[in-house]
Amino acid sequence: MSTTPCRVVVLISGSGSNLQALIDGQHNGSLAINIEAVISNRADAFGLERATKASIPAEAIEHKNFLDRDSFDQALIQKIESYKPDLVVLAGFMRILTSDFVRQYSGRLLNIHPSLLPKYQGLHTHQRALDAKDDIHGVTVHFVTEELDGGPPIIQAIVPVLENDTVDTLSKRIQVQEHIIYPMAVNWFANKRLSVNENQVLLDKEPLPVNGHQIDSRD
Ligand code: GRF
Repeated sequence: MSTTPCRVVVLISGSGSNLQALIDGQHNGSLAINIEAVISNRADAFGLERATKASIPAEAIEHKNFLDRDSFDQALIQKIESYKPDLVVLAGFMRILTSDFVRQYSGRLLNIHPSLLPKYQGLHTHQRALDAKDDIHGVTVHFVTEELDGGPPIIQAIVPVLENDTVDTLSKRIQVQEHIIYPMAVNWFANKRLSVNENQVLLDKEPLPVNGHQIDSRD
């Protein structure tokens, strides 16, 4: 186990409830991390207020002020680098990242995606699961690679889809799991238990299954 907390930069675009789960874990001592900064591509993201309330530097770099994706990502990298992170956590960061960005943080860039990847990459995952009349749905924490929502899974939480579910009820049930599995994955990384080699995730040097560690909330 490492003694110095893992330096984390969190990128957000919105509410930041996953960020809050990480802040809470840092504060109650269950996570071996120090969140060095929270950066948003939207100045009005509520997550920035959560960061400020927790005395964490909160920065906005608005993508709309940049000519193209590349110049935005370069500015983002420069800002992130000023905090010297060990780990960069995407927590509801709604921007597609350039290959340069992904390569810069290869092996230390995590994302949470609200589906059981590889199912439902992209947007509107809850609606798509409902339309397909799936029995189960869920959420995945994964390493980010250049393939959008295609990086290798670390943890998945499975939730049941209930008969009268709407996007709202289903997404609420999934968020409960998000706030469990994202801190878990971040803590594995912080304690140097997690690594990735090519597309194979290792936990305690043992390969994880192709869909990652699975938590079934129906159990
Ligand atoms: C979550 O549902 C996450 O799965 C997705 O974006 C949402 C972020 O929510 N990537 P929040 O901003 O953490 O509340």
